[in-house]
Amino acid sequence: MKILLLGHKGMLGNDLLIELGCRHEVTGMDIDEIDIVSAAQCREAVDEITPEIVVNAAAYTNVDGCEKAKDECFAVNAEAVKNIAEACRGKNICIVHFSTDYVFDGSGTEPYKEDHPCNPINTYGASKLAGERYLQDLAKKYILIRTAWLYGKNGKNFVRTIMEKARIVGQLEVVDDQVGSPTYTKDLAAAVALLIDGKATGIFHITNRGSCSWYQFAVKILQESGMTGVDVTPIKSDKLVRLAKRPAYSVLSMQKFIQKTGKIMQPWQLALQDYLKNVKH
Ligand SMILES: NC(=O)c1ccc[n+]([C@@H]2O[C@H](COP(=O)([O-])OP(=O)(O)OC[C@H]3O[C@@H](n4cnc5c(N)ncnc54)[C@H](OP(=O)(O)O)[C@@H]3O)[C@@H](O)[C@H]2O)c1
Repeated sequence: MKILLLGHKGMLGNDLLIELGCRHEVTGMDIDEIDIVSAAQCREAVDEITPEIVVNAAAYTNVDGCEKAKDECFAVNAEAVKNIAEACRGKNICIVHFSTDYVFDGSGTEPYKEDHPCNPINTYGASKLAGERYLQDLAKKYILIRTAWLYGKNGKNFVRTIMEKARIVGQLEVVDDQVGSPTYTKDLAAAVALLIDGKATGIFHITNRGSCSWYQFAVKILQESGMTGVDVTPIKSDKLVRLAKRPAYSVLSMQKFIQKTGKIMQPWQLALQDYLKNVKH
């Protein structure tokens, strides 16, 4: 199939390019070739490439930055989704788009299902929800994937940050009152390919299996990377000065994905080992 992949230089986009590129004819475009905030540029790209699928991995992903740059954040995460959907209209194109666990408010105590009411508590979550709504209102065929806590080879991420801080500072304070599911972008990209190949449509939650707090994740990162002797202290979120609030609990239920594909994602601990092996090489 012919696929137009937007945001192919980003963390997830890079792994999608590799995964989808094995089986499909993929054209990647990122900010240096297209600004998805421009409706005209979205139309031109779709008309020129004539894809059967448009995968949108482009986004404004700086969660705290969104609080200061609300207009830009909504332009990329919401208005641009409208542009993409309108550019694809009447052309029988399936749009694959990504959203976030941050569309939920975090007051839940069991994994969120796809139809659970959304109630974002920060600007990033609100902008991603607005993007979801545009997609659902305007696209005939779509796969909307909500995911969480991404890390991958091609991007600034929590795993890298923890290892760098541990090396430089030697002691860390990490929040222990936010629980979610760390997710390796290589695993997510493989799961996305399964949904595309299975001609799925609708909303799907996909993360690596299991959950932990950021503190537990940090401890595991240091353990798996052999960084002993680093002092890691669990702290409460209110001790950190951050512009955006984060949900306390944002674990996503994957029952629907499992039912559709028969695939069970590997546990986050094994995914982390894979990632560390990969970055070493
Ligand atoms: N990262 C996470 O933990 C996480 C969690 C849940 C969901 N998600 C969602 O997963 C998807 C992928 O996230 P990611 O972390 O891989 O993103 P990322 O690494 O920030 O990559 C996004 C890419 O989009 C590009 N981009 C930004 N604005 C653009 C524009 N106006 N036109 C064209 N390209 C533009 C970026 O370029 P620049 O780098 O030059 O800006 C970057 O290459 C996003 O939809 C995100 O909301 C991410």
